[in-house]
Amino acid sequence: MPTIDAASPVTGYRRGVNPQWVRLLDVLGMNVQYTHCAGAELQTADGQRVLDFLSGYCVHNAGHNHPKIVAAVAEELGRGGAMILQSHAGDLAGALAERLCRLAGGRLGRAFFCSSGSEGIETAIKFARAHTGRPGLLSAAGAFHGLTSGALALMDHELWTRGFGPFLPETARVPFNDPRALEAALATQRFAAFIVEPIQAEAGIRLPDPHYLVTAQALCRRHGTLLVLDEVQTGFYRTGPFLAAHYFGVEPDMVVLAKALSGGLIPSAAVLMSEAISDSVYDSLKRAVVHTSTYSENRLAMRAGLATLDVLEDSRLGERAAAMGEALRRRLREALAGHEMVGAVRGLGLLCGVEFAPPRQLRLKLPFEMFSAIHPAFFGKMVVRRLFREHGVLTELCGNDFRVLKAAPPLVVEERHLEAFVSALRAVVEAMHGAGDFWSEALALARRVVDV
Ligand SMILES: Cc1ncc(COP(=O)(O)O)c(C=O)c1O
Repeated sequence: MPTIDAASPVTGYRRGVNPQWVRLLDVLGMNVQYTHCAGAELQTADGQRVLDFLSGYCVHNAGHNHPKIVAAVAEELGRGGAMILQSHAGDLAGALAERLCRLAGGRLGRAFFCSSGSEGIETAIKFARAHTGRPGLLSAAGAFHGLTSGALALMDHELWTRGFGPFLPETARVPFNDPRALEAALATQRFAAFIVEPIQAEAGIRLPDPHYLVTAQALCRRHGTLLVLDEVQTGFYRTGPFLAAHYFGVEPDMVVLAKALSGGLIPSAAVLMSEAISDSVYDSLKRAVVHTSTYSENRLAMRAGLATLDVLEDSRLGERAAAMGEALRRRLREALAGHEMVGAVRGLGLLCGVEFAPPRQLRLKLPFEMFSAIHPAFFGKMVVRRLFREHGVLTELCGNDFRVLKAAPPLVVEERHLEAFVSALRAVVEAMHGAGDFWSEALALARRVVDV
């Protein structure tokens, strides 16, 4: 084991990685070390049990450190085989590609492996341009596609883009869930791809109307634009079926997968596409390796991916996600009914959002507006902080809509965990509507962060 100062384990991080992140965690009271993580539960160094309702942003679909995935990776590591060569065609990469394409179905017959969702988006951009010969990239307002330059070019939230431009030219955005705007944009015939999340996660768990994606698919086909679904958060049974595309009945030309493919262990991502799209990039011997990535097909990631699929399928975690998600939303709606600051509870499977609304009563309106003026995320962060500190529940706000609390536990989450989450959130919601310490604590916090 490396030597770390147990009394001050984040000193090195503060000095050597990112002091502002440590500061933010301190302010939120969430600067803890985790010593043991299993299923949906995390153990902290000071003996607290934390319920994970974030899953590392939809990484831990199979639960933390699933013993079968850990064993598969450990066995692979013990073999002493060809982990990364970039000089041969790996058997595990082939097996994983075929299995992913079989599960995804439709037009998807080939996979490109890489190491992150953002890298998957970059791949989709390049392949779409190569296949169509068009420069344009269309995306949806409010989207989150990752933080590399190409992915940022598809996004409009200035929190992520400010200071990093200029970005790729030839990009445009349409409102999400608006077929008319989409049709008008596609009719220009400039766009190689329409890149869209089937459910916009960071935009506030926004579900489209049931026919939006089918219509988008028909419009894309009519105008020669590829439909690329970013299923980085929604894939791997998070919403019930293997892909959210299956729920909405669409057959995209490309799908970007990442996060849960790793089993929570080895970074991994995959772009699934039609053979025709793949062939238009790898179109000759000369171009056989024209798009690659050093760690893309490494055996540990491939083995982790195959073992993760085994666990997700054998334990029927998709059916579980669908049933538990329905139960969670029903219980949340019952428990939070009648509270004016709870706007909506929505989601699909175990991708759930609770939207908070500005209060109407003057006694709540004044502090709410004051804290929102300090920072638009301030109020929501108070909820996240209280859930964590007082109830041992880990959650987060949606990155592009701070009014929405995201609840996305591992798909192995149990009934008792749902109960605990619902009663914790009810207690926090009751506190924010009462005259108690919610607002005085917010004031104390505001004093500490005025220079954020
Ligand atoms: C929908 C979506 N696409 C892409 C990404 C980027 O993935 P990564 O962080 O692995 O680069 C994310 C990350 O949260 C995401 O939520």
